[in-house]
Amino acid sequence: MSKVLLFGAGGNVGRAVTEELLNRGHQVTAASRTGRGVHPAHPLLTVVAGDARDPNSVAELAPGHDAVASTVGPRLGVEDDREVIVGATRGLIDGLRKAGVDRLVVLGGAGSLRTPDGSALVDSPHFPSMWKANATAQAEALSLYREVDDLAWTFVSPAAHLEPGDRTEVFRIGGDELLTDQDGNSCISIPDFAIAVVDQIVSGTAIRRRISVAY
Ligand SMILES: NC(=O)c1ccc[n+]([C@@H]2O[C@H](COP(=O)([O-])OP(=O)(O)OC[C@H]3O[C@@H](n4cnc5c(N)ncnc54)[C@H](OP(=O)(O)O)[C@@H]3O)[C@@H](O)[C@H]2O)c1
Repeated sequence: MSKVLLFGAGGNVGRAVTEELLNRGHQVTAASRTGRGVHPAHPLLTVVAGDARDPNSVAELAPGHDAVASTVGPRLGVEDDREVIVGATRGLIDGLRKAGVDRLVVLGGAGSLRTPDGSALVDSPHFPSMWKANATAQAEALSLYREVDDLAWTFVSPAAHLEPGDRTEVFRIGGDELLTDQDGNSCISIPDFAIAVVDQIVSGTAIRRRISVAY
């Protein structure tokens, strides 16, 4: 059994990752700034307040955990994407260094994945404008992780569309290229994405690299 500290546990993806960890018998410390919206009470779950942007908060909570994960994201249209995403990236890196915990798995974005013409998805003409700032911040976060060689980080990019759906257990793992199905769609359900994230948390081998998850 692993003991996992998860920042962003009350979010859409965080709740699914929490559920997947608990169903596999792992212990979860679920953190968010408010401590709200997390999975219902469970014997393996502890809910705490913590801010991933604050290295001291991360360093205080991380000791005693086998791995730290993050699914943090800004409140859409309310918070500054870069402040939350890049801020959390710096807070996690500095906080884990302070704590001496070295395994980190983070939810990234699809925007920095390469399309067949070699450009980043975020630069394609059809990329939704409402997600541009978020995608750009996630690309900056990936660049920051790529400079880190003293932590065992994994940046997990979803497909272009990450949506509620079935837990099929059938999906593909890629690298820096956008994966699409035979119809050209790039999709993954939140429960299947959570499987890939938890696989990395408990037995991942994609150390210091970005992987992507899609059908
Ligand atoms: N296809 C894609 O590329 C794609 C698709 C979906 C999501 N994403 C990425 O994943 C992110 C998260 O998605 P989501 O739908 O799960 O978001 P969400 O539902 O808004 O959840 C975000 C969670 O993060 C927490 N949080 C925010 N800042 C925090 C901080 N500093 N410290 C600790 N917890 C913090 C929030 O709770 P509190 O407010 O209580 O702290 C909330 O629980 C998105 O913003 C985006 O970057 C990418």
